[in-house]
Amino acid sequence: MYDRIRSRFGREHARQYAVANQTAIETVAERAADIDCDFQRRSAYTYVSDENDREDVRREVDVARSVGLSASFVEEVPTVSDAVAGVRFDDQAQFHPRKYLLGVVEELSDDGCDLFEETRVTNVQPGSPCKIETGGGTVTATDVVLASHFPILDPAGYFARMSPKRSYVLAVRTRDPQPDGMFYRSGEPYFSVRPHETEGESLVLVGGQNHKTGQGGSTADRYRALEREARRRFDVEDVVYRWSTLDYRPVDGVPFIGPVAPWRNNVYVATGFGGWGMSGGVAAGRILAEEIAGDGSEWADVFDPGRLPPLSDVKTLAAENANVAKRFAEDWVLKPRGAEASLPPGAARVVRENGIPVGEYRDDDGERHRVSAVCPHLKCVVEWNDAERTWDCPCHGSRFDYDGTVLDGPAIRDLPKE
Ligand code: FES
Repeated sequence: MYDRIRSRFGREHARQYAVANQTAIETVAERAADIDCDFQRRSAYTYVSDENDREDVRREVDVARSVGLSASFVEEVPTVSDAVAGVRFDDQAQFHPRKYLLGVVEELSDDGCDLFEETRVTNVQPGSPCKIETGGGTVTATDVVLASHFPILDPAGYFARMSPKRSYVLAVRTRDPQPDGMFYRSGEPYFSVRPHETEGESLVLVGGQNHKTGQGGSTADRYRALEREARRRFDVEDVVYRWSTLDYRPVDGVPFIGPVAPWRNNVYVATGFGGWGMSGGVAAGRILAEEIAGDGSEWADVFDPGRLPPLSDVKTLAAENANVAKRFAEDWVLKPRGAEASLPPGAARVVRENGIPVGEYRDDDGERHRVSAVCPHLKCVVEWNDAERTWDCPCHGSRFDYDGTVLDGPAIRDLPKE
């Protein structure tokens, strides 16, 4: 990441990114003194398995050290056997994000802040004041931060500058000693390992099998592939929990934190953390607080949402948007044209009725649920996610429950029932 930022934006931006993230870790460490969130200091290893990538690791270490991080080049990485080289970052940390957030919420309440759950914002009108429309009424505010994962307002084309990534995690019980550190194999797909203590029990979290949302084939197969990889590496007794995640990755890898668009006063955004939101989100909180207070943030430049993609990433950006156009065209032309006679319980499919794609799902009790298969964002045709029983959009990552209820943006409306 550091070499990538340096080569695209210069060393000063790499330094800002490093300081923002390291300060975020220290902020969590300080708060963890009062919040029980299983905070533990750990070393973090990012490693490669391909001899050809060794020099990339060396460069990463050099840049990371030059911007003040405690980074070392290592040829042996504990816990993993397939590493040929890695970078070890000291003074990193792991913590339980939900326990941490619940502690933060408690502090906010003590400070007189109000928190409204289950209140969907349907529109934000910028201005002085801004007007926030919700299902239950309109709220006014001097400043608004869109921190809804994908921003619910997209005046600056964020959908074309980020790609949605799904990845999978298993919490496994093993007979091996607990890994001492956090481990991340870069590349596609990545593979990550870290220890996790829960209710007196030691588990190992393994993650990976990432793919573009709505384009990875059977998601149940992804869990099976991840379990096979976990069993190859550890003496696994059983899989205790599993879940998947959705992350948005900007084309240059750096989150967007700042004004949502130069012409939208008082509306800010924090998005595109690419899976690194536990530190990036804390950094965003501080940057936006400073900007709203009028002080400006010393780290604002590197995260500026208005930045242009560097030339080296323009090709990737074009390929990403070409992929979206291709999916749009192919799915509208090629998705099935007629309904077959039967649909077994637990299965789903897209059929064509009067030329329009319709999603059909039969639940385990045999009841059929039919929704429009046309994503309300920009009209791509959704795909069935068999592990989570959701409809996922292959273009920009919107997700909908089996009954059409919107779960993740950029779409903000449900799939209509058929
Ligand atoms: S998320 Fe953009 S078309 Fe579905």
